[in-house]
Amino acid sequence: MCGIVGYTGNNKCINLLYDGLEKLEYRGYDSAGISFIEPSGIKTIKTQGKLSNLKPLLEKTPSGSSCGIGHTRWATHGKPSVENAHPHTSGKITLVHNGIIENYSELKNQLAGMSRTLSSETDTEIIAHFIDINLEKGKTPLDAIHDTLNLIRGTWALAILIDGYPDQIWCAKNQSPLIIGAGEDEYFIASDIPAIMPNTRNVIFMEDGDIAHIAPTEISFYDIHLKTVRRVSQTIQWNGVTAEKGGYRHFMLKEIFEQPRCILDTVSSRISASGNITPENFTLDEKIKKIHIIACGTSYYSGLVGKYMIEELARIPVEVEFSSEFRYRNPIIDSSTLILSISQSGETADTLAAVKEAKKLGAQTLSISNVINSQIPRISDYTLYTHAGPEIGVASTKAFSSQLAALFMIGVYAADIRGTITAERKNQLLYDLKNIPAKMHHILEQSSQIKVIARRYIHSHGFLYIARGMNYPIALEGALKLKEISYIHAEGYPAGEMKHGPIALIDEELPVVSIVTRNNYYNKTMNNLEEVRARGGKIIAIATTGDMETADISTDLFMVPETDPLLEPLLTVIPVQLLAYFISDFKGTDVDQPRNLAKSVTVE
Ligand code: M6R
Repeated sequence: MCGIVGYTGNNKCINLLYDGLEKLEYRGYDSAGISFIEPSGIKTIKTQGKLSNLKPLLEKTPSGSSCGIGHTRWATHGKPSVENAHPHTSGKITLVHNGIIENYSELKNQLAGMSRTLSSETDTEIIAHFIDINLEKGKTPLDAIHDTLNLIRGTWALAILIDGYPDQIWCAKNQSPLIIGAGEDEYFIASDIPAIMPNTRNVIFMEDGDIAHIAPTEISFYDIHLKTVRRVSQTIQWNGVTAEKGGYRHFMLKEIFEQPRCILDTVSSRISASGNITPENFTLDEKIKKIHIIACGTSYYSGLVGKYMIEELARIPVEVEFSSEFRYRNPIIDSSTLILSISQSGETADTLAAVKEAKKLGAQTLSISNVINSQIPRISDYTLYTHAGPEIGVASTKAFSSQLAALFMIGVYAADIRGTITAERKNQLLYDLKNIPAKMHHILEQSSQIKVIARRYIHSHGFLYIARGMNYPIALEGALKLKEISYIHAEGYPAGEMKHGPIALIDEELPVVSIVTRNNYYNKTMNNLEEVRARGGKIIAIATTGDMETADISTDLFMVPETDPLLEPLLTVIPVQLLAYFISDFKGTDVDQPRNLAKSVTVE
């Protein structure tokens, strides 16, 4: 996590750095800071809390500097505070870092033995000290940085200023993302594309092990052996407008409302006029006997829905696992396994490491990602991009439903080539898929109903979400959405499991969000709702349009249009997203930037 930016060129850097950091605040907002080079030396301004706290401090210190670096932090080592805010300085070195230094304690002890005093609790500061020590020994900046990188273990994206080099920046990357935008006699450094998009579309993606030396009119790259390497720039197509709130109160709300468009964009170019699915360059190898989905958080829940879709349609066994569990447990994987990773950001450290592990074990790798050219797609054999556009709200919404659409297409495609569905069924499924955006629109038009329901429950201390089958992961996702943005405890449960424990929680105070659509599970789920009602629980039901039985037994009701059961999660997820959104907004929490979270989790 953490976002880093840098600039060297002919323009004043402070506003450029600040604007870049604004676009990266989704990566962390525990503190922020900027350093810039003045004729008198390097100046640093930093603050605890959100980036906006930095603005008045910067305004008090006007500067014409045209070379600087900046950082927005998600705390790992050391609490959020001014002392722990980046940039960190030691002697001539000032730097910002995204990543984690694993051998930090050992190196910290070495520094103590050299009488170096640390002024923060961070792992980052030790990097500044070791580079400075190397400079003091008379090494060149490049050697000083390279030799320090050989000492540290872990992950890093670094941007470094050195006193005495007024227009130069050094960068280094290992596993944390770092890109360089090339302008005319200027370079922009950032953790992610949106931060540089207003200024240039020519982007160089640094690779693991790279060190870059950047001046306004020249840039050089070196590999881990300090051999010069060539890194070419690519032109990025990106619609910057979608990264604005566009009149919505929050990015999350805007992104919920964008879902019909996202599904259309993800699906339409991949269904041919003749009714075939063409998932870009991906072909399902005949020798694949098992699909293993790996992902984290919301993406993991989309993987759970994907299991229902792919197994039901293509009859291939699908296992779904958290990336952080997969990589440490010696999984049984070989070349007959397709590893399907799901990651909105394409940068999640646990998923990235799990894909690398799977490749080592000989698996074929397919990724679903929303960020073009992010790290996971770059190392995967195949990628299916969701075309949701930039997702800024920390709570994932449109990326999730777009992932579901991508998984559904993979299911239909695999079923088609394996001959496990008839042509008639395939046509019906694709017809239903194409109708999903219109049905989503219909649901969104009724969003005020959810707002009314939300208002009734803002003082509840806990929620239960229940469902069965392909909607069970939506219960999990609904609970996660509520937890992360409203800070209310919520649990998702398979409705049939209630009687094995959670039913003890039910009393007149507990709202039970129940997804009870008209599918094979309907009667069984209705029985579970009766059990809730018998114990006085309040049922907030999400049911199929026209279902009067559910209307009779629920306290509050929201109806979604009928569709193929495998596609239901794309519809039932919208009311649970809206419920979490409105409850949080009523409570006044920070919907787009909830506490303790970051959008892109680039630490393990
Ligand atoms: O970028 P990814 O899809 O890999 O991110 C995975 C999770 O960190 C992410 O889904 C997280 O759980 C969201 N905050 C959920 O809203």
